Parts: sequence; structure tokens; C-alpha cells
Amino acid sequence: MSTTRKRLFIKTYGCQMNVYDSDRMKDVLTPLGYESAETPEGADLVILNTCHIREKAAEKVYSELGRLRPLKDEKAASGGMTIAVAGCVAQAEGAEIMKRAPVVDLVVGPQTYHKLPELIAQAHRAKGEALDTEFEVEDKFDRLGSDRQVEGYSAFVTVQEGCDKFCTFCVVPYTRGAEWSRPVDQIVAEIRALAAKGIREVTLLGQNVNAFHGAPPSGREAEGAWGLGQLVRHVALIGGIERIRFTTSHPRDMDEDLIQAFADTPKLMPYFHLPVQAGSDKILKSMNRQHTAEEYVAIIDRLRAARPDIAISGDMIVGFPGETDADFEATLDLVRRVNYASCFSFKYSKRPGTPGAAMFNQVDEGVKSARLAVLQELLSDQQAAFNESMIGRTLPVLFEKPGRMDGQLHGRSPYLQSVHVDGPAELIGQVGEVRIEAASRNSLSGSLTGSKRSAA
Ligand code: 5AD
Ligand code: SF4
Repeated sequence: MSTTRKRLFIKTYGCQMNVYDSDRMKDVLTPLGYESAETPEGADLVILNTCHIREKAAEKVYSELGRLRPLKDEKAASGGMTIAVAGCVAQAEGAEIMKRAPVVDLVVGPQTYHKLPELIAQAHRAKGEALDTEFEVEDKFDRLGSDRQVEGYSAFVTVQEGCDKFCTFCVVPYTRGAEWSRPVDQIVAEIRALAAKGIREVTLLGQNVNAFHGAPPSGREAEGAWGLGQLVRHVALIGGIERIRFTTSHPRDMDEDLIQAFADTPKLMPYFHLPVQAGSDKILKSMNRQHTAEEYVAIIDRLRAARPDIAISGDMIVGFPGETDADFEATLDLVRRVNYASCFSFKYSKRPGTPGAAMFNQVDEGVKSARLAVLQELLSDQQAAFNESMIGRTLPVLFEKPGRMDGQLHGRSPYLQSVHVDGPAELIGQVGEVRIEAASRNSLSGSLTGSKRSAA
């Protein structure tokens, strides 16, 4: 294995899962002598880790590849540049990418990153044409091992991949494949290693994370697959881990045990992302969400009963095919009932190959924009009110780095709000209590009530 120093540039598009995957690709490539570069100029290896969720995703990748071509030509004289396309666009387009953009040397789907060193060698030998987009998740995690490089105090850990829900607007089931969960032992080994490197907060990731059903720890096989609630309680026992989060969940996979975990596990942060997408039962049915608006609100009520300080975030889509003014009103009603701390909202856009794209009753763009503006105003008011409700409260804050001003610290509240406070740098990496004195749309500020560590 050669260990000459080489420059690696990874451009990451899309979700947290891709951010995590990019980090893992770096981990696999570090032993080969690759060091991260900030820009693609002069890099030995450029990886575009693509996302398929936004409209025209593939087109954006092709135009980025166009921009890389002159850089690759320039580098030809000094060792050459290898260009790889990874992620969901790679999965969806496969060999087509190398046909349309000969500048690409290799294409690697989300399940085969552990094979990158092999694919790079193959690409060098064959001068291009290395492709691997098989679905073999199990293999990927086994081979990626648990030796991760970390920065800061918070890390993402993939516990589940893929989705079997087939919401009619979404490409994920096609690009990421069927639901699959990592074995508990493997997850725990990775988190222990992270904790030893100073990580204090983990976010358990999965496209449909609360469908988690991983093999139980060895010696406890008789218990059968573990659910997410059991996993969360187990992770809470790992020394050094002070905060646990997980994302993204589906209402249909909310079981009583997971709700109970919010009540009995203080390290599980009282902030929960549960997308609903729409408030009209007719639209929810057409989206194939497999639940009603009432069922969603009932879950939120149960969560609030279990953990009174819990705050809810969500995702909403406006302008799904067939959405009338009355359907949109139902979305606004649901938003008023739930009262979100934060919520992403999108205009529906067609994803090729999904049932929604073929529906005949598409909504006019102008109507979608108008509805989105109304929804976003309501959500923005809810978020501002939520932030203001923090004033006067004392919150545990995980301090992550120095603030912009001298003597200032920047940290995160349990609700992922940015918190600024005057305090000593020694607190970085610890949880301290902050009395909140002011709130803006995006951040909070206050003062330390004492430097003592708290449990959460
Ligand atoms: N159009 C608009 N929004 C979408 N999302 C997923 N697919 C689409 C689409 N076709 C949104 C959903 C999902 C979030 C990650 O992206 O709200 O929860
Ligand atoms: Fe996509 Fe989420 Fe629906 Fe799965 S549950 S199809 S990932 S929106």
C-alpha cells in the first residue's frame, strides 16, 4: 500500500447521511496517504458525493463535472486527477455517468465505499471504467471498521439504511434500497471508539431510523432484534456519551417503547424530528404515508405526555398533485395544532421514476409558491415564539468551540439552538448550565450559572 501524500477533495451534496458517508470515505482513504484539500484545484482524487433528493440533481452533477474537466487537464502533467462520482446519483445513473461524462474515472454507490481503494487502483490500471453500485450494506459496515477520525464533540453514526415505505414523492427507496439495520454490537463498538476520542453527543442516523431492528448484542440472541428504544438506552450506558439524538423517523414506526425511551432516558435529547409532509388525509393517502393527520397528532400528544419538555420538528411538502386550497388549509391546521419548534418546508417537485411524477393533477408552480410563503410565515412565527420561550430558562449547553468574540463560547442547547455565552475555553467539550437572557430567530444568548458539568 503506497503512502505518498495525496490530495483528496470531496464535495458533499444533500443529507446528513451523505456527510457521514463522506467522512467514512476519508477514513478509508487516509491509510492510502490521502489528505483532505479545501478545493479541487490540483487534487489527486476528487469525489462528488451526490444527492438525488433535489430536482435536477443529476444535471447539477454533470455541470460540476464540466467545471472539473479543465482542472483534470491541468493536472495531467503532474500525476493526473482521478474523478469519482459517489452517492445516490451514482446509484441511480450507474454506468450512464461514465458514458455521458468521460471525465469520470469511477462510479461508486452508497453501499460499496469500502471498496474505494480497490476501485481507484482498478481505475488507474484501466484508465477509467470502474463501477460498483451493488446493494451490499452488510459488507460495507463490516469492512469500514470502527476507526473513525473525528472533529469536535458531536458525531453522526449510521444505524440503519434504506427505506421500504415508498412515499409516492420520494426517490430514497429506489436509490438507497431496502431497510437494513446494523447489529447493535457494531454500533456500540463505533460509539465507544468515538467516545474515547472525545465525542460527547451522537446522532443515530437512518433514512427510516425508527424502523431500526438490529441484531441484539452477542450473548443476548434470545431477545431477538432490538428496536430503537432499546438501542438508545444501551448507547446511554456508554461512558463519555452525554447526549443522544436520532433522525429521521416515520410516524408508522413509532412504537410505545421508543416513546417510553424519551421518558426514561435523560440523555436522549427532548427534541424530535417527525416529518408528516401534509395535513390532509386525502393527500397523505395519495402520498402513501400510511397514516392520518389525527394519528400523527396522537403520537405527538403521547410524546408530550411522556416528556413534557419535548419540542417537535418536521418536514412539510406543499403542492403535492391534487392538493386543493382546502387540503392546504388542513396542513396549516395541523401545523397550528402541533406548534413546531422548527420545520422544513418544500414545494413538491417531481422526481423521475416516482409515482407522484406520473400523477396527472400537478399543481401550478405559482400556487405552490404562494402556499409555501403562507406556510413558511406561520412556521417562522412558531420558531420565533419557541426561541423566545427559552428566555428565563436554564438550559444545559454542550460547548463546541470558541465564539466569534474573545472570551465567548459557542454551544448547542438540547433543541439544537446555537447558544452564545461568555465563558472560559476550558468548558469546550463539556455541558454547562446557561441561563438564557436573549433570543433571536437563529440563536440564544445568556450567562453561565456555574461551570459544573451536568448529565445532559
Ligand atoms: N418534493 C419536495 N420535497 C421532497 N422531499 C422529499 N422528496 C420530495 C419531493 N419530491 C422532502 C420531504 C422529506 C425531505 C427530506 O425532503 O419533506 O422529508
Ligand atoms: Fe422517502 Fe422518508 Fe417516505 Fe422513506 S419514509 S419513502 S425516505 S420520505
